[in-house]
Amino acid sequence: MAKLKWGMIGGGEGSQIGPAHRLGSGLDGLFEFTAGALDHRPDAGRAYGQQLGLAADRAYGDWQEMLAGEKNRDDRIDLVTVATPNSTHFEITKRFLESGFHVLCEKPLTITVEEAEEIVTIAKNANRICAVNYGYSGYSLVRHMRAMVARGDLGKIRLVKAEFAHGHHADAADADNPRVRWRYDPAQAGVSAQFADCGIHALHMASFVLNQEVTRLSADTVSCIESRELEDDAMVNFRMDGGAVGRLWTSSIAIGRQHGLTLQVFGEKGGLRWAQEQPNQLYWMPLGERLQTIERGEAGLSPEADRSSRVTIGHAEGMPLAFANIYSDLSEAIHARKDNRPMDPAANLYPRAEDGLRSMAAIAAVAKSGKADGAWVDARPPMFR
Ligand code: NAI
Repeated sequence: MAKLKWGMIGGGEGSQIGPAHRLGSGLDGLFEFTAGALDHRPDAGRAYGQQLGLAADRAYGDWQEMLAGEKNRDDRIDLVTVATPNSTHFEITKRFLESGFHVLCEKPLTITVEEAEEIVTIAKNANRICAVNYGYSGYSLVRHMRAMVARGDLGKIRLVKAEFAHGHHADAADADNPRVRWRYDPAQAGVSAQFADCGIHALHMASFVLNQEVTRLSADTVSCIESRELEDDAMVNFRMDGGAVGRLWTSSIAIGRQHGLTLQVFGEKGGLRWAQEQPNQLYWMPLGERLQTIERGEAGLSPEADRSSRVTIGHAEGMPLAFANIYSDLSEAIHARKDNRPMDPAANLYPRAEDGLRSMAAIAAVAKSGKADGAWVDARPPMFR
C-alpha cells in the first residue's frame, strides 16, 4: 500500500502527547509525516517541524496557514491529527473537515455537546472520516475483550466496572500551579475537569468492549481540594442500551495510583479483568472454572487482537503501539475509500466522532447530575435520543 501523507497540529516540542502520535503514525510505515503546525508560537513550530524532517514550506506557523497551504496541493495530506489544547479542537476539526480532509482529533472532541453534534453532522455531510483518539482502545487485548463479548463467551453482560484514577493532582500545596489550575477552572475547561480528562477514556472503553451505549447516568462529583471549582473525583453509575449496569470511578487525587485505567466485565458465564499498566495480560474467569491468564500474542486469539499485536508473546508492548493501531485502522479506512472497496472488518474499530459526541453528552450529564445531588439524568446526545 502506498504511504499516506500525514499532518499534525499541536504536539510541539515538550508536549505530552505529540511524541506518541509521531511514533504511532510512523510505526508501521503507513503514514509519512508531511506537514505540521506544531506550536502555538509560530517560529518555534516552524523550527521544530523542520528539525523533525518536514520540508520548509510544509512546516507551518499556524493551522490557518497550514489549511491554506495544503488545501490546493495535488499531494495534500490524507489525514490531519489535532493534538492542541481542548478549547481549539472544535474550530480546527471543523475547518479541516469542511475543506475535505480526514481528521483524527484528540479527546475531548469539543467543549460542548452542541459543538460535537455539529462535528458529527459536518463529517457526515462531507463524507470525511472524523476519528477521536481514544487511543487505549487500540490495545490488542482490549480488542480481544470486545471480540469475546461479541461472540458470547461471557453470555449476557450484567455489569461493567471502569476506573481511571491517578494521584497526580493530589498535592493541595501545588493546586495553584498554573499548569494544574486551568484544568479545574470552568472558564478554560468547561463543565467538568477529571471526568472530561480521564473519565471519558474509561467510559468509552466500557462502550467499546460491550458494544453498548450509555443511556442515563447518576454522578457524585466532588472537589476534594476545596479551592477547585470543578471536580477532582467522580463516581458515576450508569445504564447501557443493551441492559448492562455500569460503575465508573475517576480521580486525580488517588495518591499511589499512577495511570490507573482498568476495566472489569461480568457476564452470566464469566468475568474479565484488564489493566493498562499490565496491558499484555487479560484475566478470564469462566463460571465454575479456574482463573486463566490470556497473553497478548498467544495462538488462537481473535482476528482483531492478532491484527493489533506486533511483537511476539512475552515481549513488552507499549502505549504508542496502541495509538499505532488507531493509525493502522485509519490507514486501512482511507485506502479502502480510495480503492472503493469494503474495509477489513478487523480494522473497523477506530473511535468515531459519534463516540466523541457521546462523551460530550456524558460530560454534560455528569456535571448536571453532580450538581443535582446524583439525580439520574439522560446521558444520550440529543441527536441520538
Ligand atoms: P501540551 O500542553 O503538553 O501540548 C500542547 C501542544 O500544542 C504544545 O506544543 C503547544 O505549543 C501546541 N499548541 C497549542 N495551541 C496551538 C495552536 N493553536 N496551534 C498549534 N499548536 C498549538 O498538551 P497535551 O497534554 O499534549 O494535550 C494535547 C491534547 O491531547 C489535549 O486535548 C489532551 O486532552 C489530549 N491528550 C490525550 C491523551 C490520550 O490518551 N488520548 C493523553 C494526553 C493528552
